[in-house]
Amino acid sequence: MMPELHPAKPSLLIESDFWRDPYPFYDQMRSVHPLYKGTLFKHPGWYVTGYEEAAAILKDARFQSRIPLPETSRKYEQLKHVQHDMLLFKNREDHRRLRSLVGKEFTPKMAESFRPFIKDAAEELLDQLESRQTADIVSEFAFPLASLIIANILGVPKEERHQFREWTASLIKTIDFTRSRQALAKGNAAVIKLTAYFKDLIQKRKTDPREDLISRFASLEQLTEEEFLAACILLVIAGHETTVNLISNGLFCLMNHPAQLAVLKDNPPLIESAVEECLRYESPTQLTARMASEDCEINGNMIKKGSKYTSF
Ligand code: HEM
Repeated sequence: MMPELHPAKPSLLIESDFWRDPYPFYDQMRSVHPLYKGTLFKHPGWYVTGYEEAAAILKDARFQSRIPLPETSRKYEQLKHVQHDMLLFKNREDHRRLRSLVGKEFTPKMAESFRPFIKDAAEELLDQLESRQTADIVSEFAFPLASLIIANILGVPKEERHQFREWTASLIKTIDFTRSRQALAKGNAAVIKLTAYFKDLIQKRKTDPREDLISRFASLEQLTEEEFLAACILLVIAGHETTVNLISNGLFCLMNHPAQLAVLKDNPPLIESAVEECLRYESPTQLTARMASEDCEINGNMIKKGSKYTSF
């Protein structure tokens, strides 16, 4: 039997303390049970806070069904359609097919070729902040940097990039666990605009290919038009949220741990392990979700087909 979480505890989720520091809540949940069944943020399902349990579930083929967001609503049709064709929400064979197709063009080597551009873009943004006493790292460095990079990789012309800021900000909120209906409506509107924008750009790149990802994707005959559009939109979302969070959380961690910052300044090659540690210690993605594709037993608990799992 699953122990009950203390009734007062879930209320922490709507308190500002949780947003400032979610870890005490995770600890509380873990101390009750590493597999907690309940309703958090209005989502009923299983919440996994144990490392062993989360690792086992994420590797278990029975839990590979991802959960497209939003669920059933007529209101957000365009958002639902585009999610349906996204790699992130595909399963098993469909996922393998799309992943290997997209992976043919979006390779580590291709990403590496953008290193000089990324370095110049970061230096230019930092130069603008150099003489300032204070700066907002999220809006003045991390977000513009991520935005410039992903737009450049895809092949969005420089003069058109400013439009992405608002669209991506709206889309990012639609994959947040605590998204509101208003956020979904705004995300749906952003998808309509992004779809029209990318349809036009794809046509241009088909007739006049460049050295960018959209031109490369255009050469993949097996990629349907819907999958092509969904891949562009997914890359816009995925390339922003995570990178912005990593840069800003990482800096925040280092500033709160001055001794570690000093060690890094004395030994810059340590940056690689510092990035890995920031990913672990203050993760840019705080949770991920799965759905059980069949009835199964985990740690003595019977999980029904269709039950949702969220691991923090
Ligand atoms: C710090 C940076 C990043 C982190 C922490 C991160 C994290 C993640 C995680 C946890 C997933 C799996 C989600 C799930 O299965 O539930 C994922 C998937 C994905 N990410 Fe990232 N990501 C990062 C950067 C990026 C960037 C820069 C891009 C693209 C430009 C990207 C593109 C993708 C794509 C396409 C998927 C779907 C892969 C698939 O389903 O096979 N990510 N990412």
